Amino acid sequence: MGYADRFFLALALCLGFVPLWNPRRTTEAKARIQRQPFGKTPDQKVIDLYTLTNAHGVEARITNYGGILVSLKAPDRNGKLADVVLGFDDPEGYLKNNTPYFGAVIGRYGNRIAKGRFSLNGREYRLARNNGENHLHGGIKGFDKVVWGAREVKRGPALALNYVSKDGEEGYPGNLSVSVVYTLTDNNELKIEYSATADKATILNLTNHTYFNLAGEGSILNHEVMINADRFTPVDQGLIPTGELRSVKGTPMDFTQPAAIGARIEQQDEQLLLGKGYDHNFVLNGGDAPALAARVYEPVSGRVLEVYTTEPGVQFYTGNFLDGSIKGKGGQVYQRRYGFCLETQHFPDSPNKPDFPSTVLKPGEKYATTTIFKFSAK
Ligand code: GLA
Repeated sequence: MGYADRFFLALALCLGFVPLWNPRRTTEAKARIQRQPFGKTPDQKVIDLYTLTNAHGVEARITNYGGILVSLKAPDRNGKLADVVLGFDDPEGYLKNNTPYFGAVIGRYGNRIAKGRFSLNGREYRLARNNGENHLHGGIKGFDKVVWGAREVKRGPALALNYVSKDGEEGYPGNLSVSVVYTLTDNNELKIEYSATADKATILNLTNHTYFNLAGEGSILNHEVMINADRFTPVDQGLIPTGELRSVKGTPMDFTQPAAIGARIEQQDEQLLLGKGYDHNFVLNGGDAPALAARVYEPVSGRVLEVYTTEPGVQFYTGNFLDGSIKGKGGQVYQRRYGFCLETQHFPDSPNKPDFPSTVLKPGEKYATTTIFKFSAK
């Protein structure tokens, strides 16, 4: 073969193989979404389980029951995957009434509304009191306990969930049309985009209640946390904010520099005792949205979780109410502080706190927020 022939052969081979070497092409070949039946609700509604997989084998499983993130497999510093969220292998676990919102979409209102009451446009509304005298996480049958419509979205892989909440549901005004889109990117991010419209003025504060454990199991007290917040909202005995935005400086709430969750959790601090550990809304410092809200590092596995959000607050909850009575995935017993939540949100009880950022959604307006959970290892 002459020089020219060899040149053209080499060129042809290159042209033929380039598409195979193209990392984008590989990505597209691997990233996918699959649906399988998950079970039935007591009223015989079929629920499915969607598995989203990205190019690196990171996998998120989501069910259209409650929009629950059932599992999330993320790599440690050696590339070994582990499921880093609490939950159940079977749908029955989620269908029981006493599950503490594992992985679920929360609505209409994430966290508490004092005495289940608020006024809007001169009218008082009464909501279910499902947490002592207060309303919590949308009421008796919140968005975590309904069956959502589901549609696979090709960009992504992504799953779009939708739900129409009727005027008066759980006491809230207005017909509300909600959409939650979960996207798993090739940057190992689980992105959650919430949007909604209403036909009457209402209040809305959507979040996700995933319990993370970056080691995959056991206590979370060794996890090191940074929260990008100079202030938090102190609470009363019923965990309702007093209305004050207090500086974290000099308190166990100061996570502006990374600190182990367990380092100060038992400190005899008036605020921590109320929540029996961390169960507080932090006032995020913000930045270019979605801005970094928190970073969590688990030193044994090396896994890192970063949370970015467009929301003004985050509820940092350290699983204080887990008490060993729930048996979850693979028979794991979930003891106190075996999972932590970073629930991005507007502040609790905002409808009764005129100085907090408003949670009112008016007809003609579009509610739109984004939160990203990004996984890496070091
Ligand atoms: C939230 C609340 C907690 C608790 C959990 C669910 O994070 O702030 O007080 O109710 O949900 O158990």
